[in-house]
Amino acid sequence: MQKLLIEGGHELNGKVRISGAKNSAVALLPASILADSTVTLEGLPEISDVYTLGDLLEEIGGSVSWNGQDVTIQPEKMIAMPLPNGKVKKLRASYYFMGAMLGKFNKAVIGLPGGCYLGPRPIDQHIKGFEALGAEVTNEQGAIYLRAKELRGARIYLDVVSVGATINIMLAAVKAKGKTIIENAAKEPEIIDVATLLTNMGAKIKGVGTDVIRIEGVPSLHGCKHTIIPDRIEAGTYAIAAAAQGKEVVIDNVISQHIESLIAKLREMGVTVEESDEQLYIANRKPLKSVDIKTLVYPGFPTDLQQPFTSLLTQVTGTGVITDTIYSARLKHIDELRRMNALIKVEGGSVIVSGPTQLQGAKVKASDLRAGAALIIAGLAANGITEITGVDHIDRGYEKITDKLTSLGANIWRKDMTQKEIASFQNS
Ligand code: EPU
Repeated sequence: MQKLLIEGGHELNGKVRISGAKNSAVALLPASILADSTVTLEGLPEISDVYTLGDLLEEIGGSVSWNGQDVTIQPEKMIAMPLPNGKVKKLRASYYFMGAMLGKFNKAVIGLPGGCYLGPRPIDQHIKGFEALGAEVTNEQGAIYLRAKELRGARIYLDVVSVGATINIMLAAVKAKGKTIIENAAKEPEIIDVATLLTNMGAKIKGVGTDVIRIEGVPSLHGCKHTIIPDRIEAGTYAIAAAAQGKEVVIDNVISQHIESLIAKLREMGVTVEESDEQLYIANRKPLKSVDIKTLVYPGFPTDLQQPFTSLLTQVTGTGVITDTIYSARLKHIDELRRMNALIKVEGGSVIVSGPTQLQGAKVKASDLRAGAALIIAGLAANGITEITGVDHIDRGYEKITDKLTSLGANIWRKDMTQKEIASFQNS
């Protein structure tokens, strides 16, 4: 087990290239189950969640071969192997095996997913969708059993706008008989990316990117080649880091329209942000002023950038209020930031950050992926050394984060933890 160490105070300068989108990759890989022939996915991020899903595809009989960021999946020998335990519990996105296996085999057994703890994360809308399509769904000893004689298209209204439920229902519906309409669907770019793959496989899907998605079921889907979109949350994280501790940073391989809400907020604070073809240029003209943030479904401000943004607010003048309407309990970074001297209050559902504060290096723990990103940004701006444990969470979602930050001028490195440190981390 490793920890991250950061010597703060070094300015970020230069260019960083953004990887493929994690939250797309984790749906594209299970989507390959639906094809009858080889699927090639290009530009996947080299992160642990992606490899875990590759292993799960092999567990059900798929042949998976990696070539750097590209993967070739041969689904011909896949079977409806139950996955009640094991790797499936390591990450949230294993729930996409439910929709994909149900769509392909009319049955699936999938352990309830793990992933970041952000407060309650129900999957009732996924299940409601599967049931509407004709599946019987039961929860038996922590695993979801899905069985259907056949899947039939249906009209499904989502009570909550959900990325996962929208994608999962699409996966189950693309081969169902007849027409499926998903109303109040989520509109995130990752949903469009998954629909693009499915369409290239022969699916008939209309309306992605709007809140009504129409699917006409087809009897079979074939293999294809697909290139993933860039990771808007990784791009946003580097943009926030650049605003907090950067001089001039170019973020390469980004679709700036995907993070317009963040760009607008950075500009409101006084950060210079220039958009050009596939690049963002961020220059820091201090002093910056504070802003308020409310997270919303896309195209609103993403919940996944709320925690990193909290660290930025500690560095700017004034008081900023953050309200996370998607995951109100996504707050585990706050105590850790306070250990570093941040002035943060939690009142009702809001996080109130006062700045600017000279953060101090400290020993802190990343309890989830984006909390880890928040602590890294704080560490970059802090005096002295910050030591971050819980690096596994960070490696689930950020490709080569130490290398990328080092190339921008940060002093960040990894170190193996001693047995004593591991024991104390596991007990904390
Ligand atoms: N919700 C329900 N019922 C459901 C599904 C969701 O009540 O059946 C609620 C959730 O509790 C939450 C809201 O609806 O309050 C939105 O949840 P959503 O289903 O959209 O989240 P998700 O699909 O489980 C994905 C990302 C998250 C990201 C959220 C919101 C993946 C694998 N995960 O989760 O990413 O925070 O959408 O945008 O795509 C991350 O990357 O760090 C991460 C946690």
